[in-house]
Amino acid sequence: MKVKLQPKNQTIKSMLEFKGDKSIAHRALIIGALAKGKYKISNFPDSMDCLSTLNCMRKLGVNIDYRGSGILVSSPGYENFKSSLGTLDAGNSGTTARLMCGLLAGCGIEAVIDGDYSLRKRPMGRIIQPLSQMGAQISSENSRIPLSIKKANPLIGINYEMPVDSAQVKSSILIAGFLAHGHTTVLEKNFTRDHTEKMFKALGSDIEIVDKSISIKKSNIKAKDMYIPGDISSAAFLIAAALLSKDSSIRINNILLNKRRRKYLDILLLMGADIEYKVSDIYNEEEIGYIEAKSSSLKGISISKDIIPSIIDEIPMLAVLAAFSSGKTVFEGIQELKYKESNRIEAVAENLKAAGLCLSYSDEHMEIIGENKFLEKEIHIKSFGDHRIALAFAAMSVRNKNITIVDNWECTNISFTDSLKYFSEFLNITTC
Ligand code: S3P
Repeated sequence: MKVKLQPKNQTIKSMLEFKGDKSIAHRALIIGALAKGKYKISNFPDSMDCLSTLNCMRKLGVNIDYRGSGILVSSPGYENFKSSLGTLDAGNSGTTARLMCGLLAGCGIEAVIDGDYSLRKRPMGRIIQPLSQMGAQISSENSRIPLSIKKANPLIGINYEMPVDSAQVKSSILIAGFLAHGHTTVLEKNFTRDHTEKMFKALGSDIEIVDKSISIKKSNIKAKDMYIPGDISSAAFLIAAALLSKDSSIRINNILLNKRRRKYLDILLLMGADIEYKVSDIYNEEEIGYIEAKSSSLKGISISKDIIPSIIDEIPMLAVLAAFSSGKTVFEGIQELKYKESNRIEAVAENLKAAGLCLSYSDEHMEIIGENKFLEKEIHIKSFGDHRIALAFAAMSVRNKNITIVDNWECTNISFTDSLKYFSEFLNITTC
């Protein structure tokens, strides 16, 4: 399905809320169900990635009563998961594949993890290597999915210095480490999102965090009810639409404001955005609050590589915003973008060029010369089957007086099922 988008050109004043954060939702099921018992998850998102995790957990023998955004989970606990599972389908979800691999290896469960065309191209050596060092038996062709996990002796804890900045890799090792004999310590080069650590802490496990070093060992955890705050990575597209539109102002309530995820907002503030945010609550270790964003004139900035892991999913959106900011924006150390649902460096470059916007890029670096302007031509955007590319360029369309057409819109269901409802505040939308 294609969507045709054109700005409404009217004053926008909206109050928004979002379905639960995708990263926390995965962990609410995978880590939450390690404990034996019943718990409720509120504001669980119905995005395809989260449903992939939900279906994998059901195959392990976890009973999940899914009633829209409220979920009742009844888990037999990790010691009583089924011991042989056949094939688990992680769909498009790297988080599902990598975290499930840590869980299955840690529990000594025999299974194959498979996924779709895009997931089959993504690197898995980064989890196979540390998990094998712990004693897991994982085989694959070219370190790609499908991954075949065999029964093995119980895993042994390791000290692991992360060669890549990846919360998925860190989480896979920490989950396996929780199930292993002895201590496991992971040392990060740069901070990545910390929902795994917070979830283990909220459940009462023995986890110690000192700066970039995280140590975990087996301990008692208890099933606990959870509320998942709104997904800030989905909200990022509507915040951008508000900044780029004329006469617009939005307020977002009950949104995740975790320190490692709100860096997007801090960068926008540095770019001169009229944004305000405030933490009003902490629930299960996660900060929650509100964000207000208004139409803004932005300016280019330099973004250094140590910050990239904290804005990894927002870079396509920031690249689009940079193209409408006065001056130059530089992104350093963005090589991980090549290994996402598409090669996001190429995908961003191709679509910015299709819109007549100016950039230069290499394997790990992108420079955008922006201008605070409106476009006036029919633009065809290729999503490359990647939700965050489709959504970022849909937000861009508020700056095009002509029509912007985005292909394969269905891919946005990976993370943001009702995005058109939100975009319709800003845009006239037709589908074809
Ligand atoms: C995620 C971590 C990030 C991010 C992904 C979700 C997570 O990936 O891109 O969308 O939930 O841990 P990496 O940590 O592998 O970069």
